[in-house]
Amino acid sequence: MSRKHESAAGHVSGRAVYTDEQNPPLGLLSLWPVQAPHAHARILALDTAAAAASPGVVRVLTAADIPGENDTGPILHDEPLIPADTVQFHGQAVAWVVAEDEAAARAAAALVKVDYEALPACLDIEQAIAAQAFHLPPARVQRGDAEQALAAAPLRLHGEVKIGGQDHFYLETQASWVQIDAEGLVQVTASTQHPSETQHIVARVLGLPANRVVCRCLRMGGGFGGKETQANSFAAVAALAAWRTGRPVRIKLSRQLDMQLTGKRHPFLARFEVGYDSDGLLHALRLALYADGGWSADLSPPVLMRAMVHVDNAYYCPHVAITGLIAKTHLASNTAFRGFGGPQGMLVGEEILARVAGALQLPADLVRERNFYRDDGDGARNQTPYGQPVVDNHLPQLWQQLKHDSDYAARRLAVAAFNAQHSTRKRGLAITPVKFGISFNKTEYNQAGALVHIYTDGSIQLNHGGTEMGQGLHTKMLAVAARVLGVSDARIRIMATSTDKVPNTSATAASSGSDLNGQAVKAACETLRARLTPVAAAMLGGEPEAVRFADDAVFLDTPGSPRLEFAEVAHAAYNARISLSATGYYRTPGLSWDPKQGRGHPFYYYAFGAAVAEVEVCGFTGVHTLRRVDLLHDVGDSLAEGIDRGQIEGGFVQGLGWLTCEELRWNAAGRLLTDAPSTYKIPTLGEVPQDFRVGLFRRRREPSTSVIFGSKGVGEPPLMLALSVREALRDAVAAFAAVPAAVTLASPATPEAVFLAIESVRGTAAAGAPAAATAEA
Ligand code: MTE
Ligand code: MOS
Repeated sequence: MSRKHESAAGHVSGRAVYTDEQNPPLGLLSLWPVQAPHAHARILALDTAAAAASPGVVRVLTAADIPGENDTGPILHDEPLIPADTVQFHGQAVAWVVAEDEAAARAAAALVKVDYEALPACLDIEQAIAAQAFHLPPARVQRGDAEQALAAAPLRLHGEVKIGGQDHFYLETQASWVQIDAEGLVQVTASTQHPSETQHIVARVLGLPANRVVCRCLRMGGGFGGKETQANSFAAVAALAAWRTGRPVRIKLSRQLDMQLTGKRHPFLARFEVGYDSDGLLHALRLALYADGGWSADLSPPVLMRAMVHVDNAYYCPHVAITGLIAKTHLASNTAFRGFGGPQGMLVGEEILARVAGALQLPADLVRERNFYRDDGDGARNQTPYGQPVVDNHLPQLWQQLKHDSDYAARRLAVAAFNAQHSTRKRGLAITPVKFGISFNKTEYNQAGALVHIYTDGSIQLNHGGTEMGQGLHTKMLAVAARVLGVSDARIRIMATSTDKVPNTSATAASSGSDLNGQAVKAACETLRARLTPVAAAMLGGEPEAVRFADDAVFLDTPGSPRLEFAEVAHAAYNARISLSATGYYRTPGLSWDPKQGRGHPFYYYAFGAAVAEVEVCGFTGVHTLRRVDLLHDVGDSLAEGIDRGQIEGGFVQGLGWLTCEELRWNAAGRLLTDAPSTYKIPTLGEVPQDFRVGLFRRRREPSTSVIFGSKGVGEPPLMLALSVREALRDAVAAFAAVPAAVTLASPATPEAVFLAIESVRGTAAAGAPAAATAEA
């Protein structure tokens, strides 16, 4: 099915309305934070008098103003909205100024006097390990006996990899506005991926029952996981301001504030020992994964767990022992980001395979495919370490198809020939797979609701629990409703997501927005169609079984059947006193997960893809060009191909940003230095592959999993296709060595990091010793 994004014209023309662009209510106030100049400190005294007397200021909010619970933590209650006594990261808001406009609030914020007693701060994972500062006890995923299998393995190597974080850099920063209506209902409009949670957090902070708060989200200018929980505190502070002043209040973070105050993709540290044999087959893995959680737990526990269950990526390893810990650091609290820990886990897995291939001097693609999950008879090689079989494993076939379509073998030779002729520029080529589990690990999140109204004129309103952040969910929901009711999109109006229409929703996340909400929309529309069917049958003089809905008409499946307008049938149903409004509900079947044991069947299915990347690296600067990228991704029977291609391309580019150019730096005081686009480099047109080929994997319908009309989640998995670029860079760096060398590469592999890696293999070449120094027999 092909269709364009329902807001495409609005996005391009600028007419699509976002949270902060909705008609401002009269008397709208603005907010600005008072930011702490320490990463960790005690608040000794706070004097707001001068600020409160400043022109335009209506109130200064401190912790004492909070009528309910001073906490916005989504899982643990460890996240004060406004800290009363302790600063936990540099720039944290210790008070908020409410004023007639943002400029007045900002000017007054500088007048708030705070006395601090600076405390020692923990600013990275290694410091947290040294101090044993963790949010929770270790999490584990294990199978078999890794220690014994490591001891018995013919070859072993151990290593470490550090992985940088990533700012979400959604185009629309965090934004909310709140109005207390005449009935005392708190009306929240927020750029949030999780309106139900925003509703609950606002209610918690104000000390109200949830039914006093309504949260709406029209659309987001990007979320990427950064608005899964982190929208909550900004909505809550606006709600608190509205509550205390009785006036409507908006918050819209500047880019710099957004980058300072909000959490990012978790930096990780991985320490591993792997046992393998001379064919490159994995025997055993012991892995310690550390995620930098920042100051509060936020979503770190499930992010870490998703990392732990994605280390395997597409590879079978019989004996595995993975432990995971969340470092408690004095930094902004890290959070969901496209892939939700999966990318970090998979990077570690790919790193391990690359080092094994490097140590053996075997082609990396060969070592990768030898280790693939495979369904060979008894299914033993097709079992993940957490006990779920790799259902519908299309990967071996998809991989071969991509190798063929991308001309991999011939290009391998061409790259070698180029490298033989050039000493200052080297090319690299790599192919990497993606296997990504779809569903929330937390089983209860895998449910969704919808509410569909047909009006007597035949027009339709569609509500569902998901949020639109540019990913095209609304477009896909339109496709589902139009298909079930046999009507055109033009007849259907998608309504803003709102907690008073569809309650108790899950975050739109985990790439399952269209699977979950699509099934709920389908169920609601099927209920309505079933109610209209006997009405139409009577009007058409036929059997209900013969009634068809298509092309905005209703008719019988018999030659020469009269055709009724959809609207006529709707009106007739109304006259017959038949309800034209229905809810739909869905829960994903067959899921189970035990977070304590790290075992179960957490994913309804897997998304698969593979990527081939070719780079050319300059030996003087480490700068690379991305010459060509071929992606092949499995979206099932797409609900909207143009949208899915956009997700694949966008996800890939966002992934290569994380892996090659986006670098977060903090100073020794814990202040984020890269808090603006001038210092934080996101990918632009120059980073996009010169030759970019995106293919959708064609196959028969999903055999065992029936997701919505055979489609598969596509929001996150393609991000991890960018690991091919990292591996291509490694391949190019290796070509600079005179003597074969295993390459270690920092992440992000910025030009600087690539240059250092080149220098290190050149050094190796000069010394004449292989760099695989960590390999031991
Ligand atoms: N695409 C756009 N344009 N903007 C976004 O914010 N978020 C991603 C992905 N694609 C995002 C996006 C993330 S993190 C997820 S989990 C999914 O979309 C969520 O939407 P879905 O479940 O409907 O795929
Ligand atoms: Mo996406 S990180 O699951 O919002």
